[in-house]
Amino acid sequence: MSRKVTKAIFPVAGLGTRFLPATKSVPKEIMTLVDRPLIQYAIDEAREAGITDFIFVTSKGKSALEDYFDRSVELETDLEAKGKHELLDVLKSTYMESGAIAYIRQHRALGLGHAVWCARRLIGDEPFAVMLPDDVIAADKPCLKQMVEAYEETGGCMVAAMEVPQEKASSYGLLDVKADMGSVVSVKNMVEKPKPEDAPSNLAVIGRYILTPDVMRNLETIDRGAGGELQLTDAIAEELRQNRNVFGYRFEGQRFDCGSKAGFLQATVAFGLARSDLRGEFETYLDDLYAVRQAQL
Ligand code: G1P
Repeated sequence: MSRKVTKAIFPVAGLGTRFLPATKSVPKEIMTLVDRPLIQYAIDEAREAGITDFIFVTSKGKSALEDYFDRSVELETDLEAKGKHELLDVLKSTYMESGAIAYIRQHRALGLGHAVWCARRLIGDEPFAVMLPDDVIAADKPCLKQMVEAYEETGGCMVAAMEVPQEKASSYGLLDVKADMGSVVSVKNMVEKPKPEDAPSNLAVIGRYILTPDVMRNLETIDRGAGGELQLTDAIAEELRQNRNVFGYRFEGQRFDCGSKAGFLQATVAFGLARSDLRGEFETYLDDLYAVRQAQL
């Protein structure tokens, strides 16, 4: 099978209840880090990794997310007339080629594995990527691109991996490592959100995957797992039982858990500081804030 990865699935059907009341009307994926929606970061990363087909698994109430990718002729005309060329470039950088995006509806909230399975007909018999937009990764070389390059060597299935604090490990899919080669580890088992006493390690799965079509087939046969949901982790672990390879990839970069409010705030600060147009003013503010807090201690 070819190791060229051109399709990516973006599971975006979640209700985003952790961000209520905002998510009453704004899909979580449209919430902005500085001025770009979360989903834009994921799309940009995917494009840089060579992805050409973008499959969004959505649900009721996500029309704002679909509209976001529309061309805005009104804005374009307005910016052009006013000579605002830089903003026009920003706007155009979000446009997608016609036919590059497909939206699939997940009719029932049966978990991440089920969301991925909903896209099976669009995947066919090719390897594919899965990207969870809640996991935002700041990196010189985009995380998925790092993985695509590693995957060209290894084949099999590959998941992004990162050591997390022991006390948080039970919130993740965790890897049981067979051999540690540094950035690549070969996996002997993986478990979704185990009890602390059952955790095989603190090496956690982060929301970037490169998967074989076999994983889609496994999603048809596995039982519901953690939380009563169909788990992607279990479908990948099934590959190991079939004696096929699964690798973890310790990416270079900083990951932010934008599914949590604290993580979202941290990402906002980091991405704000990384912006040359904002750094000066923002850094002064943070330095002043720090000085005031130190004086209060
Ligand atoms: C999902 C996956 C989990 C993974 C995590 C990474 O969990 O099921 O294996 O470790 O993403 O962010 P969720 O955070 O959606 O509960």
